[in-house]
Amino acid sequence: MSNDQLQLFGGDWTEQKLNILAGYLRAYNNALKKQPFTRVYIDAFAGTGYRQRSRKLIACPGIFQDIEESDAQMFLKGSAKLALEVDPPFNKYVFVESDPEKVAELELLKKSHPDKAGNVEIVQGDANKYVQKYCKNMTSMMRAVVFLDPFATQVEWTTIEAIARTKAIDVWILFPLMAANRLLANDPAKAFRAPLDRIFGTQDWFEQFYCTHKEADIFGQSLETVQKKCNFDSIGKFYLKRLETIFAKVAPKPRIFCNSRGTPLFQLFFAVGNKNGAPIAVNIANHLLEKI
Ligand SMILES: C[S@@+](CC[C@H](N)C(=O)[O-])C[C@H]1O[C@@H](n2cnc3c(N)ncnc32)[C@H](O)[C@@H]1O
Repeated sequence: MSNDQLQLFGGDWTEQKLNILAGYLRAYNNALKKQPFTRVYIDAFAGTGYRQRSRKLIACPGIFQDIEESDAQMFLKGSAKLALEVDPPFNKYVFVESDPEKVAELELLKKSHPDKAGNVEIVQGDANKYVQKYCKNMTSMMRAVVFLDPFATQVEWTTIEAIARTKAIDVWILFPLMAANRLLANDPAKAFRAPLDRIFGTQDWFEQFYCTHKEADIFGQSLETVQKKCNFDSIGKFYLKRLETIFAKVAPKPRIFCNSRGTPLFQLFFAVGNKNGAPIAVNIANHLLEKI
C-alpha cells in the first residue's frame, strides 16, 4: 500500500472517535447476537480501511493497541477495518466510498478477510443516495448500525430522515461544527443558505442563529440590522434538537472534537430509531461518549 493511497486525516480525536465506534459495535453485536435479526454494518464514508499515523504518533510508538505488527510504523486501522475485526461479527458489511482509488483499497481489505469476504459489499458511489435507497429496502428482520463519517458537510438531512424512518438503525453521525459555523457567515446576506438547509433539513436555522436589532438612526427613523448570534455550543444544540424530532432516542451529550488549538471541529452524535432498543443503546453510547 503506497502512502498516497492512505487516508491522511484527523489527530488524536480520530483515535477517540474510532474507539467509541469500535466499542459500540462490539457491545451491539453482543447484545443482539441471540436475536433472530440480520445485523448489518454500513460505513457510508468508508475511506480505505486504514489511515496514516501522524509524525507525532510515530514519535510515540506503543501507545496504541490496534496497530498491525507489519504496519506498526505507518498505519492505523480505519473504521472499515475495525468493523471487520469486531467480535462477535456482523452478518453483513456495506462499505460505501466515492473515490475509486479508495474503493480499490477496500477491495484489498475485503480479500484480507477471506472468512468474511462473502458478507462484504463494497459500493462506489454517493453515501446519501446509497443509504437512502438501502433504508427503503430494509426488511423487518434486519437491524443495522450506520456510521456517517464525512470530511465536511456531505451528510444530507434527507439521509438522516431515511435512517430514522426505518426504526431499525442505530446511527453515529460526525457533524461538522466548524464547517457549519463558517457557512453561517457574519453577514446574514452571505450565509450559505443551500448547504445549511441541506444539513439541517429546515430553514429555521436562520431564526435560531441570526437576530434582528431595531434602533433609530440620526434622523429618528427605525433601522433594522441582522446579526449572527450563535456559537459552536448553540449550533450543536440545534442539531441535537433536530435529531430528537425524528429518532426514538438521542444521546444527550454528543462528544466535541477539537483541533490542537482547542477549536471545535466536529461533534459526534448518536441516535436510535427503534424505541424498544433505544434505552440500552443510548446507555451504552453515553458510557462510551463519556469515558473514551
Ligand atoms: C473522514 S474520511 C472516512 C474515514 C473512515 N471512516 C475511516 O475511519 O477510515 C471520509 C471519506 O468519505 C469519502 N467521501 C466523500 N464524499 C463522499 C460521498 N458523497 N459519498 C461517499 N463517500 C464520500 C472520502 O473519499 C473519504 O474517504
